Amino acid sequence: MKRLLPYMKNYVHFAIASPILMILEVLADIIIPYLMSLIVDVGIANQDINYIVRLGIIMIVSALLAMLFGILSAHAGARAGFGFAAEIRKEAFRRVQGFSFANLDKFAVSSLITRLTNDCNTIGQVTMMSLRMAVRAPFLALFALIMALRINASLARVFMFVIPVTALIITVVLSKALPLFKLLQHRVDRVNAIIQENLIGIRVVKSFNRQDYEEKRFQDRNDALRDTALKAISLVVFLMPVINLIIYGTIMAVLWFGGRQIVAGTMGGGELISFITYITQVLMALILISFFFMQLLRGAASVSRILEIFNTESEIKQIDKPVNQVKDGSLSFRNVSFIYPGSSEKTLKNINFELEAGEVLGIIGSTGSSKSTLVQLIPRLYDVTEGSVSVGGVDVRNYDLKVLRDNVAFVLQKNTLFSGTLRENMLWGKENASDEEIIRALKLAQAWEFVSKYQDGLDYWVEQGGENFSGGQKQRLTIARALLKSPKIIILDDSTSAVDVATDAKIQQAFRKELKGVTTIIIAQRISSVQHADKIIVMNEGKIESMGDHETLLRVSPIYREIYQSQQKGVVGA
Ligand SMILES: Nc1ncnc2c1ncn2[C@@H]1O[C@H](COP(=O)(O)OP(=O)(O)OP(=O)(O)O)[C@@H](O)[C@H]1O
Ligand SMILES: [Mg+2]
Repeated sequence: MKRLLPYMKNYVHFAIASPILMILEVLADIIIPYLMSLIVDVGIANQDINYIVRLGIIMIVSALLAMLFGILSAHAGARAGFGFAAEIRKEAFRRVQGFSFANLDKFAVSSLITRLTNDCNTIGQVTMMSLRMAVRAPFLALFALIMALRINASLARVFMFVIPVTALIITVVLSKALPLFKLLQHRVDRVNAIIQENLIGIRVVKSFNRQDYEEKRFQDRNDALRDTALKAISLVVFLMPVINLIIYGTIMAVLWFGGRQIVAGTMGGGELISFITYITQVLMALILISFFFMQLLRGAASVSRILEIFNTESEIKQIDKPVNQVKDGSLSFRNVSFIYPGSSEKTLKNINFELEAGEVLGIIGSTGSSKSTLVQLIPRLYDVTEGSVSVGGVDVRNYDLKVLRDNVAFVLQKNTLFSGTLRENMLWGKENASDEEIIRALKLAQAWEFVSKYQDGLDYWVEQGGENFSGGQKQRLTIARALLKSPKIIILDDSTSAVDVATDAKIQQAFRKELKGVTTIIIAQRISSVQHADKIIVMNEGKIESMGDHETLLRVSPIYREIYQSQQKGVVGA
C-alpha cells in the first residue's frame, strides 16, 4: 500500500476531509439518543411541553446536521477513492505501454485488462469505504460506550460479555473469507480471459461452428465464478443474522436488568431506551469494523495484483548515455543466439551475417524456422541471449530506444490497425506527416489504388483491428505506415503474403526505385518475393542453412532449390 500512496497526492485534501466530516456525523448521531432520554425522563415526566419542543427541535437539527456531514463525507471519500484509482490506473497503463515483448509474454492480456479495470475499481471503492468506515466504526463504538457508561455504569457491564463474543465470531468469519476473496479474483480473471479470447476470435468461432463448445467452456468458468462468489457472500450473509441475534439477546438482557432498576427507581425509562440505542450502536460499529476488514482484504488482493504490474521492469533497458543517431542502415549479426524467456531451447543458434546500408535481404525458410525471431532482435523487441546485433556499426543496446525504433521500421507479421481514420493510422509512422507524404507512402505500398477510390479519402474510417479491410489491403496499409517513418532499415515480416503476385511485384519494384538508400529485409514464403534481393538467407531450425543470391542458392542450397521447384510447378500447373 505504501508504494501506491504517492498516487493519492492530488486528492489528499479529500482524503483528510472525509474522515473529519465523518467524525462530525458520528457526534450528531450520538447526541440524538441522549436527547431522547431527556425528553422521556424530564419532558414527559414533568409534562413540560416547552422543554419537549425545544429538545425536539435540537434533535431535528442534529439529524439534519448528521445527514449533511454524512453526505459531504461520502462525497469527499468518493472523490479521494476514485481519484486515487484513476491515478493508479493511469500509471498502470503507462507501465504496460513500456512492457517489452517478453513482459507481455508473461502477463495474459485478459489479466492485464482485469487488473486495469476491476482491480483499480476495487482499490477505489475500498479506499473510499476505508476512509469512512475506519473512522466511523471506532468513534461510534467509543462515543456510544462512553454515553452508555454515563447513563448507567452497572448496566454497561453487559459489554464485557458481548464485545469479546462478537469480536471472536467476526475473526473466525474473516479468516475463512480471505482465501475465498483471493480465489474470487482469480476466477474473475479466468472468465475475462475466455470472454476476451472468444470475442476477438468470434468470426473464427462461428466459421468452425464452435459456439456450443465455447459456450460450454464459458459456462464452466462462469459457474465456478458464481460458486466462489456465493461462498464468499454466504459467509458475509451468515455474519448478519448472528450479530442480530447477539443484539436482540443483549437488548433482552438489558431490559431484564434495566427493568428491575426502573422498578427499584434507580433508572429512568428514557435512560433505558437510549441505553438500548447506544448498545445497538456499539454492536453496529463492530459489524462496520468487520466489513471494513473484509474490504481491506479484497483491496489487498487487488493491490498486490497492481503491484505486480508496477514491479515488472522491462528487460529492454536503456544505457545511461545512449547513442542518439543512427549513422546508416548497415546491419550485422555476430554469433547471435536467442532463447525465449521461459523456454529452455535456443530458438536462434549462432547467427552471423553482414548487410551494407541500402542492401536488400530476403529471408526464406519453412514455418517455425525462426525468421520472425531473427528480425525481432533488430529493433530490440527482444534482446539477444548471446552475441550482438549492430545497426550502423553500433550495438543496438547502446542506442536510445526511441531513436533505434524510429530508424528501424518493422511491419510485424501479426500486424493491426487501430480504430480511427486512415490518416490517424498513418500518422503513427510520422506525427506531422502531410497528406502528400501519406499519399506517397500509400502509393509506394500500392495501397493508393484502393484508398483513392474511397469517397472520404484519408478520412475513411478504420474499424478496430482494421476489420473493414481485406487481408491484402491491411498489409499494404501497414507497409505504408512503416514507410512514413523514413527509416534507415525497413523489415517486412511476411507482409505481402495476402497480396497477389502481380501487386507484390509492383511493391518490390517501387521499393527498388524509391528506397535506394534504405536497407530492406523481406521475409517471405514465395521465392518471387525475394529472388531479386542482393542477398538471401535460408533459415532452417534456427540456423542459417545458407546465404547468397538467387543463382548461388539454386546451386548450393537443397532447401532453396526444393522451395523453388515446388513453386515453379505451381506456376506451370496453373
Ligand atoms: N513469444 C514466443 N515465446 C516463446 N516461443 C516463441 C514465441 N514466438 C515464437 N516462438 C517459437 O520460436 C520458434 C520460431 O518462431 P518464429 O515465429 O520465429 O518462426 P517463423 O520462421 O517466423 O515462422 P512463420 O513462417 O510461420 O512465421 C517457434 O518454434 C515458436 O514456437
Ligand atoms: Mg514468422
